[in-house]
Amino acid sequence: MTGIPAVDPAYFEEVRRLAAERDALILAHNYQVPEIQEVAHHVGDSLQLARLAAASTASTIVLCGVHFMAESAKLLAPERTVLIPDLGAGCSLADTITAEQLREWKAEHPGAVVVSYVNTSAAVKAETDICCTSSNAVDVVNSIPADREILFLPDQFLGAHVQRETGRANLHIWMGECHVHAGISGDELVRRVEEQPDAELLIHPECGCATSALYLAGEGIVPVERTHILSTGGMLTKAKQLGSATVLVATETGMLHQLRKANPLADFQAVNPKADCRYMKMITPEKLLTSLRENVFEVTVDPEIAVRARKAVERMVELGGAPVLA
Ligand code: 13P
Ligand code: SF4
Repeated sequence: MTGIPAVDPAYFEEVRRLAAERDALILAHNYQVPEIQEVAHHVGDSLQLARLAAASTASTIVLCGVHFMAESAKLLAPERTVLIPDLGAGCSLADTITAEQLREWKAEHPGAVVVSYVNTSAAVKAETDICCTSSNAVDVVNSIPADREILFLPDQFLGAHVQRETGRANLHIWMGECHVHAGISGDELVRRVEEQPDAELLIHPECGCATSALYLAGEGIVPVERTHILSTGGMLTKAKQLGSATVLVATETGMLHQLRKANPLADFQAVNPKADCRYMKMITPEKLLTSLRENVFEVTVDPEIAVRARKAVERMVELGGAPVLA
């Protein structure tokens, strides 16, 4: 088992001192580098971070994650300053659909309800009825009357998962994908399971291998009770229940840090150790320090877009976040 890297105490002190001086709350996503996760006030999945931003009373929120997460924080806490340590921290999945493309898709399906994953720009959210994250996508879709058509975007693998779970035939799925999760292939998963047939599986629903995991479970190659398709937050809850198991983890590798902290007895192994999100990793410990020292980089949302996008995010936050498939 790999040890849990510790954070330099001098770095920790300096970051926390600057944060206190600025009345700043530091939020970090589960895919951040361990040093950032250790120094943040809170670490969580995208829904948890959105909720924490909405509930915060701090005058500044420093979002250590990717740009759409900082935008969501700004939408939910418009009167606060929201900073991101690197404005280049985008998301390849969010880039798979523009507001213009969504308007064209909507025109082809008049009356359809638009459900957008939070991994989208504020401009796309402004064209959306309700947002979802991987932890509540099934609940969000189930909250929509069965006879209404749904446009689900932008992730095809999460969409396929939601379709399986809800059994909805009137769900149209945008064929976008995250380059990191799509790269965790079914073949790789099958190979790893063959090597370690007793392993538990933790699989993010954005993964290219999610369908293979269900196939393995369906064929009895991996017992269904050992196959868990979960958001990053859901994985942490499940990890605590796994004792000293060997656990194959299919998601971005930053997740391993929180999993190992949550359950030091288990042996967590990445299905694809190269599954690094280069955008998440743009947020370095040095850039977090600069962000706090220089009050950079502020994330703003055009007010006209913000009014419409906020409604879609607020509807999601109000709905709650049950695990995708425990
Ligand atoms: P979670 O909502 O599970 O935190 O996932 C966010 C994300 O970007 C996955 O790639
Ligand atoms: Fe976007 Fe994929 Fe990175 Fe998540 S892992 S932030 S979906 S590019």
